[in-house]
Amino acid sequence: MSTQHHFDVLIIGTGSAGLMSALQLSDDLSIALIAKDKILEGSSYYAQGGISAVLDNQDNFESHIADTLSTGVDLGDEAAVRFMVEQAPSAIESLEQAGVVFTQQQGQYHLTTEGGHSNRRVAHVADKTGQSIQTNLLDSAKSKKNITLFENFIAIDLLTQNQHCYGAYILNKSNNEIESFIAHKTIIATGGASKSYLYTSNPDTSTGDGIAMAYRGGCHIANMEFTQFHPTCLYHPHAKSFLISEALRGEGAKLILPTGATFMHKYDERGELAPRDIVARAIDSEMKTHGFDCVYLDISFKDKDWIESHFPTINKKCASFGIDISQDPIPVVPAAHYTCGGIQTDINAHSNINNLYAIGEVAHVGVHGANRMASNSLLECIVFAKACAKHINQQALKPQHLDFDNWDASRVSLSKEKVMVTHLWDEIRRIMWNFVGIVRSNKRLHSAQMRLAQIQNEVDEYYRLYLISSDLIELRNLVTTAQLIVKSAILRKESRGLHYNEDYPQTSNKAKDTIIEL
Ligand code: FAD
Ligand code: SIN
Repeated sequence: MSTQHHFDVLIIGTGSAGLMSALQLSDDLSIALIAKDKILEGSSYYAQGGISAVLDNQDNFESHIADTLSTGVDLGDEAAVRFMVEQAPSAIESLEQAGVVFTQQQGQYHLTTEGGHSNRRVAHVADKTGQSIQTNLLDSAKSKKNITLFENFIAIDLLTQNQHCYGAYILNKSNNEIESFIAHKTIIATGGASKSYLYTSNPDTSTGDGIAMAYRGGCHIANMEFTQFHPTCLYHPHAKSFLISEALRGEGAKLILPTGATFMHKYDERGELAPRDIVARAIDSEMKTHGFDCVYLDISFKDKDWIESHFPTINKKCASFGIDISQDPIPVVPAAHYTCGGIQTDINAHSNINNLYAIGEVAHVGVHGANRMASNSLLECIVFAKACAKHINQQALKPQHLDFDNWDASRVSLSKEKVMVTHLWDEIRRIMWNFVGIVRSNKRLHSAQMRLAQIQNEVDEYYRLYLISSDLIELRNLVTTAQLIVKSAILRKESRGLHYNEDYPQTSNKAKDTIIEL
């Protein structure tokens, strides 16, 4: 008989979205917080640039809303964007209440800027905003008696019946047992899917698990074609997934070719501070045209002390590879960074399945449109975590009458073919990088679709025959998420924001979301 847990609320994911929702739920609710790795491991911890909010009296909500919608190439939902922007100052307050101390200058927030913002509105903690947010939120969560943390527990599938969610099956990685977590409300906060690409700025946790689980459970999945490529990840053979923050460009850093020539002015009048889709495509085009392996980001005009105080993490990391950024330009390339699409939700973060919510990068509430503006993601995490908790707090939880089976592991045996998992994992990520990257074509998308369908069959067979493992769970989710990206990309017969298809280079005058159902 496998273990059953009963909670009022099950939260899958301990990034900024998951932790903040737990903290905002009523103290009389019992909460399970689940992380598939160490609690702090996830994109939130690595966030550098900061979190956007109107905090300066030169700025205003209308400007933040207009910048967000225009960066998203008119596909964002104006009501959702307005809600997020108007709640931003209170999101900053909630973080401060949890102990985050944002960088100040002369008694005011030191606000920086990034691509797409027409005002300085990015609050930050030097270049380690995510680390500060995560450690403070986790300390607060640990101090609450109603929250139980489960580290190294990976969710496999949701428990759903008749359009209702009752929790999830979760693998306890320490003893390889599958345990049932039964809950009145389930919140998916599992982050994005950028690990479906070969090169990414993301940590290993971003395998699209929540999106794939929700899709299998009957959720509507929106706008998966919009994978954001961050223009500047460190290019070095030993630097796995290290980001060079857009905030450097906010402070005047220039993109240059190996010849020393600047190029962004040829692509957009905003130059280095054009939205990310434009900058990433410009770099891709320069690299392909000239056959360069990378381009460079130059901030060497700033003095050493200034660099050390504003960008201590980036400065130290580059120094560890022998790059003195106060003297030398930094070698950079674009890499998959952010999943704009995800589980379709309303403004309370509720999905189309009863009692099931989604928040943070895994969700699609409509704030990013065809391209997310820099530093709007942490903001989305905090604002919609609070909205979700508020919605749950307002409901009376009813007793549930459930009839479901514990996980049946009797029919499967130990695999002697683990090489299949590693091979397929690598193949998916190469297919996505080569065929579904920054610039797409119908031919490449259809080739990707065909091979991913075969891989799906191979994974399904493996999944049926062998004992489940963490790698297999992620592989199964990765192939599903990759197919959702490709299917959405094929359905969009135009180019818009992050989705550029050479066969449909124009932007249609009808902006519409791509929605996929099982
Ligand atoms: P995450 O923080 O990714 O957390 C996901 C959680 O889900 C983890 O706890 C993970 O263990 C858990 N999980 C996943 N799958 C399962 C499963 N199957 N079972 C159990 N648990 C699971 N955005 C900004 O706004 N500003 C920035 O400055 C910024 N900088 C960034 C820098 C980097 C290097 C990166 C990678 C991203 C950056 N972003 C930034 C984007 C932003 O950090 C993320 O979009 C955001 O933090 C996502 O938060 P989240 O809570 O949704 O997910
Ligand atoms: C960065 O610091 O460049 C990342 C900001 C973001 O992804 O919003």
